[in-house]
Amino acid sequence: MTTPTSSQEILLQIRNLNKNFGGLQAIDDVTLDLPAGVITTLVGPNGAGKTTLFNLITGHLIPSSGTVHWLGKPLKGFQPWQVARLGIARTFQDLRLYSQMTVEENIMTVMERGSWLWQGGGRAAEQRVTEILAETQLTDKRKERAVDLAYAERKFLSLARIMASQAKLWLLDEPASGLDPRSFERFVTLLRDYAKRGITICIIEHNLDIVIKLSDRVAFLDQGKLLAQGSSEDILKDPHLAAIYFGERA
Ligand SMILES: Nc1ncnc2c1ncn2[C@@H]1O[C@H](COP(=O)(O)OP(=O)(O)OP(=O)(O)O)[C@@H](O)[C@H]1O
Ligand SMILES: [Mg+2]
Repeated sequence: MTTPTSSQEILLQIRNLNKNFGGLQAIDDVTLDLPAGVITTLVGPNGAGKTTLFNLITGHLIPSSGTVHWLGKPLKGFQPWQVARLGIARTFQDLRLYSQMTVEENIMTVMERGSWLWQGGGRAAEQRVTEILAETQLTDKRKERAVDLAYAERKFLSLARIMASQAKLWLLDEPASGLDPRSFERFVTLLRDYAKRGITICIIEHNLDIVIKLSDRVAFLDQGKLLAQGSSEDILKDPHLAAIYFGERA
């Protein structure tokens, strides 16, 4: 198991981040590092601020105060497309696929037109799509519209799009929720595989089975505050955190 060490490169550095929605403090003085190559899981009860934290990183929301640095440079004032172009890709809780486009088209829209993949008539891009479809077991669905896919297939398409993005950091918002056990195993294997290839992953997850199987490190949010971070064993066996997690979700 990998644990963050001081020698590890910090890709994303969050310092004293705050976000208020009127009187509600959705993110409350959060300081967190995402080290390269580490799979971090963000857990916490509904409404803890997990998605808001992603939105603040990706430019979908503007922080009330505090900073986010990517590879040492501030992300202040960046639009979501600019953040994506820097190498931070995300998925959404509600997926946000192009429902009327085919599976293949959904994947291709993520591939930067200026990248080497499109040189020489786009054969490399097509080849990459073929690989990704095989990895996500969507090969047979290549020409189907996203709207016609089964639920688990849509979840994998969302993942396929991030795989096509060439981003260094993946922010995944409940990507495995509602998956059946077989899809779930495939999903964990796939993410572990990409982590081994050098992708840094931060994943919001309620399924504690996935948290245990996938995480190198768990960060626990509650009412906008980062209450604890550590190994999944340490976090999940903490009775105080368990009471918050299960108490507030009940
Ligand atoms: N755009 C917004 N405007 C006002 N309030 C918001 C907005 N976005 C989120 N909130 C509030 O901020 C708090 C944190 O919401 P957030 O969606 O980040 O929680 P979460 O941890 O992702 O929860 P869940 O596990 O249910 O997805 C909630 O109280 C939510 O209602
Ligand atoms: Mg959320």
